[in-house]
Amino acid sequence: MKRIYLDYAATAPCDPKVLEAMELFFFDKPGNASSMHSYGQEAKKAVEDSREELASFINAQPQEIIFTSGGTESNNNVLLGVAESLKEKGNHIITSSIEHHAVSEPCSYLEKSGFEITYIGVDKDGLVSPEDVKKAIKDKTILVSIMHANNEIGTIQPIEEIGRIVKGRGVYFHTDAVQTVGHIPVDVNNLNVDFLSLSAHKFYGPKGVGALYIRKGSRINRFLHGGDQEKGRRASTYNTPGIVGLGKAIELCRKNMESEIKSQSALRDRMIKEIPKFIPEVKLNGHPSLRLPNNVNFSVKYIEGESMLLSLDMLGIAVSTGSACTSSSLEPSHVLLAIGLDHATAHGSLRVTVGRWTTEGEIEYFLESLPKVVEKLRAMSPLYEKK
Ligand SMILES: Cc1ncc(COP(=O)(O)O)c(C=O)c1O
Repeated sequence: MKRIYLDYAATAPCDPKVLEAMELFFFDKPGNASSMHSYGQEAKKAVEDSREELASFINAQPQEIIFTSGGTESNNNVLLGVAESLKEKGNHIITSSIEHHAVSEPCSYLEKSGFEITYIGVDKDGLVSPEDVKKAIKDKTILVSIMHANNEIGTIQPIEEIGRIVKGRGVYFHTDAVQTVGHIPVDVNNLNVDFLSLSAHKFYGPKGVGALYIRKGSRINRFLHGGDQEKGRRASTYNTPGIVGLGKAIELCRKNMESEIKSQSALRDRMIKEIPKFIPEVKLNGHPSLRLPNNVNFSVKYIEGESMLLSLDMLGIAVSTGSACTSSSLEPSHVLLAIGLDHATAHGSLRVTVGRWTTEGEIEYFLESLPKVVEKLRAMSPLYEKK
């Protein structure tokens, strides 16, 4: 049976060119980038080359980048590190109701230790209103954290405008750009952010490595205590193969991004157009145009997303019902509830995300298979009456 991977937002395959670049650093070039001998210096140079590659891609300075273990660590570092560093100034943080758990959970943790968190709601397309952010800012607000694009419904937020407002009030601004770096243009100066999180496995790099952009001069406490790597801002031996992989993945995105935006949005738009033609009572979730080039998310009435996922899996097609981290939970996704879906409709949702190696033929096969799966499941559903 042929297998088709349509779950790129959960994680993307590592590009073979990335793997090739990393390989040397596992055996032939084993140095610790903090060591003074030539092995160490060779590793250090590779780490710094990657830092420069990433910095120039997001229009930052190399010294404004620290490497981390991924998006979760970068987000935790910002939330907890800024809260701790600025607790004398204020205890109020603003975020949105549709953040990834890697932001919302550190917020809940801070709430338990006396911080006040304001969760800004979104409209039916998943957009945060800059005006709502403006109204929520108080004298004791120390940080605003709003994601660049949502991992489930793909909606892209007006970060530039929100950033202008937040910076205008002298408050730090963070964006979780895990779903956007490598997929759409990301420029830390245009976006007006002080902190930005990213993760290599979402843009064809290895899993377990990411980075945090920290605007020069920003006050933030370190998250990992130990050695003085990253100029004392993040302890632990440099993950040289991972960091080299991240740099190579960025180099490839620099070359491919423009054409991939075109090809992936064509596949996306084909699905958005054709799915409702073959399946009655289906609803697109997320903004119709302000959305990631590779994301389709829709709710199919009267059936469960999990049943669709498993039936498609039996046909060799991998999709998702929500974010990768929540798809094992029985609660409907907080993102789908936040855009106003009722529990039943939220439960009937499917996320399809394409990537570098998705072909027209694969989408064709998916579009042929899905209506059959839906028809079979609806025939078994006590809720469905054929019109
Ligand atoms: C928006 C967003 N933020 C953060 C994360 C966590 O990133 P990582 O898996 O690198 O810890 C993810 C992963 O799904 C994500 O989609």
